[in-house]
Amino acid sequence: MEKKPFYITTPIYYPSGNPHIGHCYTTVACDSIARYRRMQGYDVMFLTGTDEHGLKIEQKAAEKGVTPKEYVDEVVKTFKKLWSYMNISYDRYIRTTDDYHIETVQKIFKALYDKGYIYKGEQKGKYCTPCESFWTESQLDENGCCPECHREVTEAKEEAYFFKMSPFADRIEKLLTETDYLQPKTRATELVNNFIKPGLEDLCVSRTTFKWGIPVTFDDKHVVYVWIDALSNYISALGFWNEQYNDFDKFWPADVHMVAKDIMRFHAIIWPAMLMALDLPLPKHLAVHGWITFNGQKMSKSLGNVVDPFILGERYGLSLIHI
Ligand code: ME8
Ligand code: MG
Repeated sequence: MEKKPFYITTPIYYPSGNPHIGHCYTTVACDSIARYRRMQGYDVMFLTGTDEHGLKIEQKAAEKGVTPKEYVDEVVKTFKKLWSYMNISYDRYIRTTDDYHIETVQKIFKALYDKGYIYKGEQKGKYCTPCESFWTESQLDENGCCPECHREVTEAKEEAYFFKMSPFADRIEKLLTETDYLQPKTRATELVNNFIKPGLEDLCVSRTTFKWGIPVTFDDKHVVYVWIDALSNYISALGFWNEQYNDFDKFWPADVHMVAKDIMRFHAIIWPAMLMALDLPLPKHLAVHGWITFNGQKMSKSLGNVVDPFILGERYGLSLIHI
């Protein structure tokens, strides 16, 4: 008998620093589900990988005096070493710097442009030069400065491409409130109240202020916004619009995307909007979990309060990380 397919994914992690036990959380949870499904006789595709473009990586590489690709190649080795140390049973590892993924992203961007969902416009607002970020008036701090670094902002304009998401607002609201896509469903309220009810804004999906990204084929001073690039991994890794693999018909739609709450919004709103715009079926479930915290704060690379899983494993044994 033909085995039933089961497709599960972790987020693709930023190799802007070594993996920490926050990354292990999602990966181990997915690993358990993948193993359980294999035992039940499913044909499992368990995907993980790394999200290797963007300004942050470009800056990290510059600090070290290496190219961005040289920088990520090193960090990716550590990710793979960790998953092998922890005996993670992934079936496929995607890197967004792989040629087949780049090809898919470029085709997706062009298809959305041809369909009229992506258009060229102007990004306007308060700009923080050190952070290379645009902010709206209401996002500024109490002194009218950058909410991240608290330095002065200037009025600025920049040519950019935008993704029109409003045509999908009603379908997305229904997806979140009337189906079991989002788990736990209690999180739907914040998404609907904060992003959908006020009107889904067009999303800026290209950048011209740095180079380390996937070029827009028809306008190559622009690189594709890192979240459009990253989310596409879930289908490029199956061979969608590339020749590398041929598993899209078998494994899509995914059974589960698992993520922590920091990136729920991208998977609950932007990803469904992209798929709707491409006329593709939606994933069956988005499983959202909380954070491993340290003194009440999220454990994260940017806060610098991370626990190294290799050290933890050596000292206490792997079973402690396999919680
Ligand atoms: O967000 N507790 O990558 P990322 C629990 N590249 N889980 C945690 C955690 C913590 N303290 N810290 C991280 C990105 N995680 C994007 C994703 S997907 C198309 C692109 C886990 O390296 C959790 O799964 O910042 C979270 O969603 C993910 O790492 C973010 O990893
Ligand atoms: Mg993060």
